[in-house]
Amino acid sequence: MFALFLNIWKSSRSDVEWTETDKDCIVLTGINKYFDDKQVLKDINLRIPYGQIFGLLGPSGCGKTTLVRIIAGILKLEAGEVSVLGHKMPQLEVLDKIGYMAQTDALYMNLSGRENLHFFGSLYSMKKEALKARIDAVMQRLSLYQDLDKEVQAYSGGMKRRLSLAAAILHEPPLLLLDEPTVGIDPLLRQDIWRELHDLAALGATMIVTTHVMDEAEKCDQIALMREGSIIARGSSRELQERIGARTLEEAFIHYGGGPNEG
Ligand SMILES: Nc1ncnc2c1ncn2[C@@H]1O[C@H](COP(=O)(O)OP(=O)(O)OP(=O)(O)O)[C@@H](O)[C@H]1O
Ligand SMILES: [Mg+2]
Repeated sequence: MFALFLNIWKSSRSDVEWTETDKDCIVLTGINKYFDDKQVLKDINLRIPYGQIFGLLGPSGCGKTTLVRIIAGILKLEAGEVSVLGHKMPQLEVLDKIGYMAQTDALYMNLSGRENLHFFGSLYSMKKEALKARIDAVMQRLSLYQDLDKEVQAYSGGMKRRLSLAAAILHEPPLLLLDEPTVGIDPLLRQDIWRELHDLAALGATMIVTTHVMDEAEKCDQIALMREGSIIARGSSRELQERIGARTLEEAFIHYGGGPNEG
């Protein structure tokens, strides 16, 4: 975690650059990313307006996590520009306005849920009393209140996932980057989580949610379909289907060029 802050601090030393994006929360321009000599993102251009739940949908290995990490300012780019909340990224002062839930839970296993959240809250300089109240409220919403004082190593996979979500929304950030937030979570709790996400969106938060599950993508206002590092189509689920006369999002995805895992 500290290394992440340090990297962002190092790369944000240049003067603040403002972009003129009053209606778009995220603007991606010409994003290219390589790992060694393999190109994993290919000329991505994307604008995501404020207040949307935006789904990134695509098979395993197509580049969803890489794109989210680039938006979060964690990964360096070979080419392109990222603007988030009106700031050219990476930018230290945007950091506490982003709630990032990584695909792999980044939690302290030998601390309790409460202690984990205290730690994350202190990173965002939350005041002690406000943090205490917020931890209780968030854990109530995510049905983890009874488990607040349990060590995280005794949590189930779904409980850890929900604790990671709690950490991401704790400081009420205007932008949430959620990488497969409901993996390993049972259908009832999944519904609760989606209700929570829609409530946050109603309060004005913008969200990116990655998934390779079609029914989750359906819950998003807009979807970008990804394949092999490119965005192959974009629109609401309905638009994507109507455009080509498909009856399901899955049918549309296959039509646009989606396919099995890419590894
Ligand atoms: N740190 C890394 N070093 C080298 N290659 C990487 C690294 N991270 C990702 N890749 C490669 O980049 C490509 C995109 O990976 P990414 O994790 O972004 O896919 P994804 O769409 O999130 O997949 P999944 O649905 O399985 O999470 C894959 O080919 C992956 O092997
Ligand atoms: Mg991923």
